[in-house]
Amino acid sequence: MPNSIQTIQVRTSPAYEVRIGGGLLRSCGAYLWDLLGNCHMAVIADSTVAALYLDTVTASLRDAGFTVSSYVFPAGETRKNFKTLSAILEFLAEEQLTRTDCVAALGGGVCGDMAGLAAALYLRGVRYVQLPTTLLAAVDSSVGGKTAIDLAAGKNLAGAFLQPAAVLCDTDCLKTLPPEVFADGAAEAIKTAVLSDASLFNCMEDGGFRFLEPAPVIAACIQYKAGVVERDEKEQGERKLLNLGHTIGHAIEKCSGYTIPHGHAVAAGLAIMTRASEKLGWMSEYAVKCHDGGRICSALEALGLPVFTGFSAEELAEAALSDKKRAGNTITIVVPREIGACELKKVSITDLLPIIRAGLEG
Ligand code: NAD
Ligand code: GLY
Repeated sequence: MPNSIQTIQVRTSPAYEVRIGGGLLRSCGAYLWDLLGNCHMAVIADSTVAALYLDTVTASLRDAGFTVSSYVFPAGETRKNFKTLSAILEFLAEEQLTRTDCVAALGGGVCGDMAGLAAALYLRGVRYVQLPTTLLAAVDSSVGGKTAIDLAAGKNLAGAFLQPAAVLCDTDCLKTLPPEVFADGAAEAIKTAVLSDASLFNCMEDGGFRFLEPAPVIAACIQYKAGVVERDEKEQGERKLLNLGHTIGHAIEKCSGYTIPHGHAVAAGLAIMTRASEKLGWMSEYAVKCHDGGRICSALEALGLPVFTGFSAEELAEAALSDKKRAGNTITIVVPREIGACELKKVSITDLLPIIRAGLEG
């Protein structure tokens, strides 16, 4: 049995539990059987994750009594598209899943977003559970119910809100992550700390994150995100804050043809918005005195994350115009005021270019 499991309640509709700790994939069957009862579990995973963890998960589910089938797609953000989504939906239909059955998203944010969207669409909605295997999925994407695929016009442009029935975050999976994929998750964790918690930021500074026990950091990030999502499930207001670094981050991903990973793009987006905030006088006096802007960029660099991009301000502004966060001729950006506090600013789309230019200056 797994030990020292932390549990966080997410009080959305429906409410669900996030469990964080070692060994959770090995024991997932018994926990999910108690939660969901007898049903068909369709496990979706990418090729890399399937080779590492699919047998463990399917064995645990079968031992508990579930009927189990699995679908594996090639790993990578470039596969987060209609073609893969459609193949997953056809697979669910071929396996004759019914409304009482369940989808299990085993993997990182790409699998979680896409399997979650398949669950939202299939039969107009079936239950799904998130089994995150990357740090990014653990600290962010597995919780909150945002599901999506990318379109040629931009990132995550087709999606739905559907909260999972449960999230089981097995921290043992993080041991097999390549360093650059670990860093992608660290970028989202630093984002969360810049939004919410100076002490969380302090312990991740100077690259120290690599040597921390991941579970407390994951729990802190999820506790914060759960609160925001409970207050604003469909991103009408406060939840927009979680997009810190994402307007420019998504533009970088799009400009790169989705070859720059999400976490790396968000790191550069966060650094660019931080420098823009400093240059445009949006940082608090306290932040200026404490060099918060420099500290945010150094924390990202210490984890091997980028703080600049090769794309021009014009290319980024153009790509950002198709962002979901645009509403008519305005776009809401998230501005760091100091480490632990950010604010939303609605700006006209013509103001975006000078803001990005300010952030690209050294
Ligand atoms: P990912 O899912 O592509 O995983 C990154 C790589 O790591 C893949 O090659 C994968 O096969 C591999 N991998 C996964 N787990 C592994 C493990 N334990 N050991 C070894 N390799 C492993 O990418 P990601 O960084 O997890 O997620 C990025 C995606 O998440 C983006 O599409 C982004 O838009 C989305 N996202 C969604 C939300 C949300 O709220 N829904 C939030 C943040 C990001
Ligand atoms: N990652 C942004 C959100 O969940 O709202």
